[in-house]
Amino acid sequence: MSFEELILVLDFGSQYTQLIARRIREEKVFSVVKPYNLPLTQIKALKPKGIILSGSPCNVYQKDAPLPDPRIYSLRIPILGICYGLQVTSELLGGSVKKVKHREYGHASLSIDLRDDLFFGFGREMSCWMSHGDQVLSLPHGFETIAHTSSSPIAGFRNKKLRLYGLQFHPEVTHTPAGHKIFKNFLYRICGVRGKWTPKSFIHETVKSIQNQIGKERVVLGLSGGVDSSVAATLVHRSIGSRLTCIFVDNGLLRLGERERVRRLFKKHLKMNIKIVDASERFLKALKGVSDPEKKRKIIGKVFIQVFEDEARRIGRVSFLGQGTLYPDVIESVSFHGGPSVTIKSHHNVGGLPERMKLKLVEPLRELFKDEVRSVGMALGLPKELINRQPFPGPGLAVRILGPVTKTGCDLLRAVDFIVVEEIKKAGFYEKLWQSFAVLLPIKSVGVMGDERTYENVVAIRAVTSEDGMTADWAKLPPQLLSKISNRCINEVRGVNRVCYDISSKPPATIEWE
Ligand code: XMP
Repeated sequence: MSFEELILVLDFGSQYTQLIARRIREEKVFSVVKPYNLPLTQIKALKPKGIILSGSPCNVYQKDAPLPDPRIYSLRIPILGICYGLQVTSELLGGSVKKVKHREYGHASLSIDLRDDLFFGFGREMSCWMSHGDQVLSLPHGFETIAHTSSSPIAGFRNKKLRLYGLQFHPEVTHTPAGHKIFKNFLYRICGVRGKWTPKSFIHETVKSIQNQIGKERVVLGLSGGVDSSVAATLVHRSIGSRLTCIFVDNGLLRLGERERVRRLFKKHLKMNIKIVDASERFLKALKGVSDPEKKRKIIGKVFIQVFEDEARRIGRVSFLGQGTLYPDVIESVSFHGGPSVTIKSHHNVGGLPERMKLKLVEPLRELFKDEVRSVGMALGLPKELINRQPFPGPGLAVRILGPVTKTGCDLLRAVDFIVVEEIKKAGFYEKLWQSFAVLLPIKSVGVMGDERTYENVVAIRAVTSEDGMTADWAKLPPQLLSKISNRCINEVRGVNRVCYDISSKPPATIEWE
């Protein structure tokens, strides 16, 4: 895909690199993240309007420090170095960087010395977020200081003529409240962009590019009913119409009314070719007696691929598989934190499918972050309820039923889950939460209903707030709401006599129970 205006973010391994890319896009400019050592020829080929050097856990003076091709400074492209990025510029252009006695971490008050470009429109002081153990001691030739703090005499520098800038603090984090204004100044005043990156322009460009890629061929796409696959399907449908066939697999592990909802929206309303496959028996049979969470995931993944393959074959000749892959899954992030990470949960996906079926991929969301997918979905006219849906895991209710999965368990959990979501929506919490759902526990407890003793199921309610699902906190829902949910579940769902509220955060717990 080609975009007229692009900002290149070179990643030196900071945990905030993606955030930099997002801040740029929020200012309506397209951005891409690439490894710090991207060859000069490739940098030139991208024709960036500006380059941003990210932070890093490394030190510029260490042996094997990650450094970019120094010729980037002669390209006449504006460069902004952030934290380690500032130190890289200093190191490569003749300044000096030294370790400081006390690492500076947290809020700092920044005194701004020059306010005509990067700090245009700012007052004399601003609050910023620092996180560094090194600092620039002397400026490279031709540079001047633009900001300082009580402990960093050079907290920002520039060479105005060469349009090279550096900041010791992190403008991309929310702890630097005016950070977005700095990005805006860099983009519009220094790089001279016009800001054409909007959901509408994205749709326009993407439709053209899908049409080019697909030509007269056909596409098959696995529709899950979630935001990503729905937006991807709608974009492909807009590009090639009836040459797209969506396959929706009901694995028997879905939420109440899900299959009907998908049928109504995509088949009736949006008039897409969609095959709805009821494979619930096949999945439940394969899952029979299985308690181990990882085994459940593997079985569901395997059966999904079989069902999908069977259906896709019936469509006839298809050359492409559509997928809702997002940018965070595509970025080749640089990591200096070492060590292979352990698998906590093997997420269910359709990996391996394209090779097996000899399909080429069409992934219209490969360049988007989740919030951008939502904006594109809105611009495509998809319903707000779909766009703002909470995530639902691929293995569905199977990872919310502890122990073996049965049809009775699924039906009971569907009924409880429906009440939970309905009450949370009514109370206005649904969109404030990352997820809210019910879990069926593999135990029974004693209760009393009327004059009768009961011995029935226990369900847990899970509601969490989170930015990205990587960490999460349990939601402090009002007691009245929890009480209403509990009463309704016990009164309305046969087989439930106890409701618990999960008050663990992630880490050390995870969001799903399995
Ligand atoms: P955990 O439980 O790991 O969940 O804290 C983090 C986020 O990922 C979702 N999740 C999954 N999504 N397949 C998926 O597509 C899976 O196997 C899976 N497991 C967890 C979970 O719902 C949460 O949003």
